[in-house]
Amino acid sequence: MKVLLLGANGQLGWELTRTCPENIILSTCDYPKVDFFSSTSISECISSTRPDCIINAAAYTAVDKAEQEQDLAYRINHEAVREISEICSQNAISLVHISTDFIFNGQNFKPYKPDDTPDPVSVYGKSKLKGEQAVRSILGDQALIIRTAWLYSSHGSNFVKIMLRLMAEKPSLNVIDEQIGTPTWGFGLARAIWTALEKNIKGTHQFTDAGVASWYDFAIAIQEEGIKAELLGKAIPILPVPSRLFPTPAKRPMYSVLDKTSFWQAAGTTPVHWRVQLRSMLKEVLP
Ligand SMILES: NC(=O)c1ccc[n+]([C@@H]2O[C@H](COP(=O)([O-])OP(=O)(O)OC[C@H]3O[C@@H](n4cnc5c(N)ncnc54)[C@H](OP(=O)(O)O)[C@@H]3O)[C@@H](O)[C@H]2O)c1
Repeated sequence: MKVLLLGANGQLGWELTRTCPENIILSTCDYPKVDFFSSTSISECISSTRPDCIINAAAYTAVDKAEQEQDLAYRINHEAVREISEICSQNAISLVHISTDFIFNGQNFKPYKPDDTPDPVSVYGKSKLKGEQAVRSILGDQALIIRTAWLYSSHGSNFVKIMLRLMAEKPSLNVIDEQIGTPTWGFGLARAIWTALEKNIKGTHQFTDAGVASWYDFAIAIQEEGIKAELLGKAIPILPVPSRLFPTPAKRPMYSVLDKTSFWQAAGTTPVHWRVQLRSMLKEVLP
């Protein structure tokens, strides 16, 4: 099967590239070779590779900047996704599209099911929801949409790498303990996506690692595991604080745990707890 990966240089794109199964012929297209701002560059990239399947791991992911750069966020997360879906529909190409927990408002306080009512509270979340809706309306059940959350990888910038740096530099840290979600290692998500392709899973599903955490819990675990992995020399005090102490331009869901049951059942995979995945990821981080 010929697969075209868009966004190959992002966290997830990088994980998809290194976990690609041997029976897949993988082409990658990344910015600026493909620029989602340009319809022509999207269609040229797809027609030059003539894939059987496209995995769209590209996105505008700057959650706070999106509040100012609304046009750009909607262009990349919605209009470009609509154009990709139309090309897929016209050329019998299947599509795997990645979406986010940020399409929910976070007021549920029980894990969100794939068909729970979305109600994004940020421009980023709204633009990603529009992208999902475009995929569903154009491709219906011929596409696979996978929502994920709190993604990190040894490639790229993310909470784990920022925490490791701050823990090495600062005498103490304050970390928000109010937002609840599930940290997810990109490596595990990438493997789940390849499994989904192999098993021809379609529709809207959700995948994160297993378990639940606040950013504060996650930071505590990063410090403990970072010391064990000899990435950090000593523990510093980490204090739980409310979100209001770190005001951000974009609102975030307070609770965005995703219900993964439908994906786990369809893929036949066993969920791995986020702390186990964190330990594995830290083995890849250079001291
Ligand atoms: N990160 C998270 O915590 C998180 C949580 C939930 C869902 N997600 C979703 O998961 C997917 C992957 O996220 P990620 O963390 O891997 O994102 P990422 O690291 O920010 O990577 C995004 C990719 O999109 C590319 N891109 C940005 N603007 C583009 C444009 N104008 N044209 C073409 N490509 C462009 C980037 O290229 P450059 O590298 O050149 O900028 C990069 O390769 C996204 O759909 C995201 O919405 C992420």
